Amino acid sequence: MTAAATRPATTRAHESTSQPGTAGDAAAFLRDFRSLSAIGETPGHGVDRQAATPADAQARAWFTSLAAQYGFRTETDRIGNLFALIEWNPGAPYVLVGSHLDSQPTAGKYDGAYGVAAALHAGRRLADRAASQSPDGGTPPAAPKYNLAVVDWFNEEGCRFAPSMMGSSVYTGKLPADVALAVTDTAGTSVRDALTEIGHLGSGFGPTAAAYAEIHIEQGRSMEDSGTTIGLVHACWAAAKYTVTVHGEQAHTGSTVIADRKDALLGASRLVVLLREIADHFSGAVLHTSVGQLTVYPNSPVVVPSRVELVMDLRTADEDILASAKALLRAGIAAIEAEANVSIDVAESHAWGINPYQPAGVALAAECAAELGLSHRQVFTLAGHDSINMKDVVPTVMLFVPSVDGISHNEREYTNDDDACAGVDMLTRVVERLCNGDLDGAAAPEAGARPEGTK
Ligand code: GLV
Ligand code: MN
Ligand code: MN
Repeated sequence: MTAAATRPATTRAHESTSQPGTAGDAAAFLRDFRSLSAIGETPGHGVDRQAATPADAQARAWFTSLAAQYGFRTETDRIGNLFALIEWNPGAPYVLVGSHLDSQPTAGKYDGAYGVAAALHAGRRLADRAASQSPDGGTPPAAPKYNLAVVDWFNEEGCRFAPSMMGSSVYTGKLPADVALAVTDTAGTSVRDALTEIGHLGSGFGPTAAAYAEIHIEQGRSMEDSGTTIGLVHACWAAAKYTVTVHGEQAHTGSTVIADRKDALLGASRLVVLLREIADHFSGAVLHTSVGQLTVYPNSPVVVPSRVELVMDLRTADEDILASAKALLRAGIAAIEAEANVSIDVAESHAWGINPYQPAGVALAAECAAELGLSHRQVFTLAGHDSINMKDVVPTVMLFVPSVDGISHNEREYTNDDDACAGVDMLTRVVERLCNGDLDGAAAPEAGARPEGTK
């Protein structure tokens, strides 16, 4: 992947229109989003579409079929990222816009999927406008500077195959494709085999990006609490994720004397509690910690477990707090090893820093929201998104719509229709401006630059 060099516009800027979508646009978006939400639907009205499963394949078929209906051609790259492309300006790079269709198990319907559906509809509106300005239905007289590609990033969630944000990490050159393709799930199936099985292992590097935009649900409460329709993401919290193995010794749960036991599950349980204690150590909810996955071996009723694998996750917007939390973690792990008679191996599996998005992109998004009369404010993202990778290589705009009660990674995840449709209007306008080259030259902030509101 290469970021486009800044180049002079060869055509008059595409006619700009900042009006909200029509009632027909909103109805079409809601209809398509509902048909997507039915794919992999769970009994609790959420979805289960883990990466490269049959349900993910069905969602990808939904994407391909809608893209064709809206005049886009599709292609898949070497790590299963799926692109829907429209070319107005032959040979020019693309503005990428999208999110992810894969989900956590028993997930909500909005996380990722909303952003992909919104991107397809933004693309449809811009393609319709371009076609209506074209005398022969082909290239409009005022073609945008850049072409447009809607993207479904492969395996953003990282639940079946770690790490998260896998497709965008490969696209941006942060993760070698062969390393990603060799990752296996708990059943031993590799990414390569799973993608081949669903017929979505493509080739090549995908389209060259000039800029990127993404819209997502907030997955927190700040926008709902402040009555804000559009969140302008200006920075991300840092994340540090670790894979941990607690080693004990298999024994009989009834007959083995307590003092002789090396209970890996006891060590793992203390680690779960330790993480919560570390979060509580800092007042003001400035640190989020969790264990999200436990794999117990042999996981049998009358056996003291010999091994537990788990995944720890720490997030904060303050580097000093992260450093102190890591020190507390190290000391706590040493104490658990001694007290629970186990040994603990810790490996950092995935991390990102507290990084700003391009301030020019935040300013451009604020202008678009103001033009559309949508309330807006700057927000952090605490969750990971593919835009965290993309912002390091091309000018990027990341937008949020509110999440009711901040619920996420839960079947009850919800964003009301008005907010969802306002988000599509907003994304359409932002992408239109990106296609006109309005963020050209907005370089990635320097590594280590401190975003506002962070330490
Ligand atoms: C991914 O979505 C993450 O927040 O880690
Ligand atoms: Mn997501
Ligand atoms: Mn998610």
